[in-house]
Amino acid sequence: MQVFEHVYDVREYIKERIASGKKVGFVPTMGALHEGHISLLNKAKQENDIVVCSIYVNPTQFNNAEDLKNYPSPIENDKKKLIDAHCDILYLPQTKEIYPTKDPKVIVDFGEMERTLEGEFRPGHFKGVGLIITKLFNIIKPAKAYFGEKDFQQLALIRNLADEFMFDTEIIGVDTMREKDGLAMSSRNLRLNEEERKISPIIYKALKTVEENLKNGDIEQAIEKGKAVILSNSKLTLEYLRVVDAYTLKDMENTMKTLTANICIAAHLGPVRLIDNIRVEL
Ligand code: PAJ
Repeated sequence: MQVFEHVYDVREYIKERIASGKKVGFVPTMGALHEGHISLLNKAKQENDIVVCSIYVNPTQFNNAEDLKNYPSPIENDKKKLIDAHCDILYLPQTKEIYPTKDPKVIVDFGEMERTLEGEFRPGHFKGVGLIITKLFNIIKPAKAYFGEKDFQQLALIRNLADEFMFDTEIIGVDTMREKDGLAMSSRNLRLNEEERKISPIIYKALKTVEENLKNGDIEQAIEKGKAVILSNSKLTLEYLRVVDAYTLKDMENTMKTLTANICIAAHLGPVRLIDNIRVEL
């Protein structure tokens, strides 16, 4: 695996390979890699000649300084996992090069879609994601880039970003990888203690409860049943539990039929904020 830290070096290396006809797949990450990340990498391996992974804890997408400070960075371990997964290139962006000025000169704004769901609780988060992904796409120039359904709103917004800015990159969504008990894999799970880890599958259980109750045809009632599951444990604090249109991210109403929707949840458990979602056909 080739490791690069500088824009010029990684760009030149990849440029030569694209010129010789190689198809480049790209998996952007913030590290603390788990099987979810590796599933993106495996898919990229199947569909491309060369796979590039980036690890960068992007400061502009953190609206909470504590969260940024506590974000795990086990880089040597990550490198081993990437080598085992036959990653070809690891790019480790350097803040001095990525953000040479204190404030970025251009800001990506996704409008209403960045202010709902996650955006309501993490103001500015998606501006930071939009900016880093734009920069990374322009450095790597991948034919395909891979993102998890786990971060469903992020995936939807990146699809819009690629469309609007006409990036020559196909955006591929990958299913959420879960622990056996249903907990969606996440780098943040590392910060759960033993007791919290045992409680954490309740989040997925709440999603499944909403899904099950949606069969009765009343969305609001289904959400209430899901909320009750979260309320059953005092260690969990719910931020939101919503059923939204998969494309507009607007709340679904009972009158909307045969549409693809996502049930989305965010909850706090101990020091960690966890998110999850499942897709449903209504
Ligand atoms: P990060 O949280 O490291 O996630 C990197 C990619 O892995 C994202 O596309 C995310 O959706 C995917 N992923 C995380 N958990 C997953 C799981 N359990 N199953 C499947 N895929 C999963 O998301 C980011 O980093 C950043 O916002 C980034 C896109 C890199 C921009 O900085």
